[in-house]
Amino acid sequence: MSENGNRRDFLYVATASTGAVVGGAAVWPLINQMNPSADVQALSSIEVDISGVAPGTQITVKWLGKPVFIRRRSADEIAAARDVSIDELPDTSDRNANKPDTDALDENRTLDEAGEWLVMMGVCTHLGCVPLGDAGDFGGWFCPCHGSHYDTAGRIRKGPAPENLPVPIASFINATTIKLG
Ligand code: FES
Repeated sequence: MSENGNRRDFLYVATASTGAVVGGAAVWPLINQMNPSADVQALSSIEVDISGVAPGTQITVKWLGKPVFIRRRSADEIAAARDVSIDELPDTSDRNANKPDTDALDENRTLDEAGEWLVMMGVCTHLGCVPLGDAGDFGGWFCPCHGSHYDTAGRIRKGPAPENLPVPIASFINATTIKLG
C-alpha cells in the first residue's frame, strides 16, 4: 500500500475511534510524524538529563515531534523481560536502530548491558496512540485505543499492534545524560 494510502487509512481510523480513547491516551498527529518541519528537523539530536529518574519509573520527552519513553527498569522488570523466550514473541525483530540485525531478546533492546535503561518511541505500532506505562497484562505498557499489551521490554505481546515499540538511535553521553539521535 502506498504511503498516501496508509495516511488516509490512519486518519479515517483515528477519527472513527476518537470516542474509544480513554484516560491519558492520545492519538499522535501522524502528519507531524511523517513530515517533520524544518525547525523540528533542526533538533535532530537532543540530550536528556536522567539523573532524577528512579528505578521503576520513566520520563517521556518529545523528540522529532514524537514522545520518547526513557525508563529506568527495576530488577523485577529486567528479570521479567529476560525470562521470555523468543518464540513467545509475536514480533521477533529487535526494532532497535542501534543494533540492526539482532533479535528481540531483551538484551538487544536496552541501552546498557545490565538492562536498566530502556529507550523507546512512545507510539503504538498499531495506529499511533501513546501507550500508558506500568499497565497491561505484561506489566509494561498498554495502549487503550484498541487493547495492545507490551511487556517490560516494550515488545508487543497481545492485541492488534504488529510490532515492538521501536528503539531510536540513543547513547549515553555520561552517567546522567542520554543523547537521542
Ligand atoms: S493504536 Fe490501536 S492498539 Fe494502539
